[in-house]
Amino acid sequence: MVRAAVLTVALVVPTAALVAACGGGTSDRAARPTTGQGIYRANCATCHGVDGQGGVGPRLAGVAGRYPDVNAQIALVTNGLNRMPAFGGRLDPTEIRTVVEYTRTDLTG
Ligand code: HEC
Repeated sequence: MVRAAVLTVALVVPTAALVAACGGGTSDRAARPTTGQGIYRANCATCHGVDGQGGVGPRLAGVAGRYPDVNAQIALVTNGLNRMPAFGGRLDPTEIRTVVEYTRTDLTG
C-alpha cells in the first residue's frame, strides 16, 4: 500500500508541474481571440472563407444587406440554422456581437 502511494505521488507531481508550466493563462498561444477578426478567423473562416467569400457556408461579405436587423443575424449565429452550427454554447454574447459586427463591416470577399 505504502509503495503504491509513493508511486502515485511520484507520477502525479511531475505531471502537475508539467500542466502548470504549459497552461499559463497569460501565454499568447492559449489566448482566446477578442477582436472581431480574431473571433471570425478562429470560428467562422473555415466555412465562410477568410474574407467572407464563402466555402462550405454562403458568402458572408455583404451580409448586412440580407440582415438589416443586426439582432436577427445575432440570433442566427447563436442558434444555428441547418448546417450552420449554433455558437450560443461556444461564444459568449459579447463575442457573438463582436464577430457579427465584424462580418457586417469588414468582410471584403
Ligand atoms: C461548419 C461550417 C460553418 C461554420 C464554422 C460557420 N458557419 Fe455560418 N453558415 C454555414 C452554413 C452551411 C450556412 C447556411 C445555412 C442555411 O441557410 O441553411 C451558414 C449561414 C450563415 C449565415 C447566414 C448567411 C445568409 O446569407 O443567410 C450567417 C450570418 C453566418 N452563417 C455566420 C457565421 C458566423 C458569424 C460564424 C462564426 C461564428 C459562422 N457562420 C460559422 C456554415 C458554417
